Amino acid sequence: MSVLDHKDKLQKLDEVIAANKGTRGAVMRTLQSAQDIFEHVPKDVQMYIAKGLDVTLSEVYGVATFYSQFALEPRGEYIIGVCMGTACYVKGSALILERIENELDVLPGQTTPDLKFTLKDTRCLGACGLAPVIMINEDVYGRLVPDDIPGILAKYKAM
Ligand code: FES
Repeated sequence: MSVLDHKDKLQKLDEVIAANKGTRGAVMRTLQSAQDIFEHVPKDVQMYIAKGLDVTLSEVYGVATFYSQFALEPRGEYIIGVCMGTACYVKGSALILERIENELDVLPGQTTPDLKFTLKDTRCLGACGLAPVIMINEDVYGRLVPDDIPGILAKYKAM
């Protein structure tokens, strides 16, 4: 099933395309709206936008992949960022990441099949004093050891 099968959402996208077609920055604005509508912009949405705006797919794809704000894959309800900055790395963030990978059976950049969690490795999160640090959406967890991970994930699994 494609996200484009949602007729009401597709209608909203059609309106956005009609409003932006032929204007400067149309691709960027349309992608932003498409992401608001579908929560990510997979290939079929990009193709639809390219056709609607009468631009090439590579133009749409170029913008979608250049800006990190665009998610090409569906994202989980909770984004787990594991800091791989120097301070965290020295304090064992690789082991924290490995534990999360094993607990959720995903690699960085991937989302669990139930769309609950997306795992990411990140640069310094600005909380080096708490190294090693992870963030789950807006929540910060610091001074972690791998055995802390199952308990932390359990809270979000239960939500
Ligand atoms: S290096 Fe991890 S918070 Fe700064």
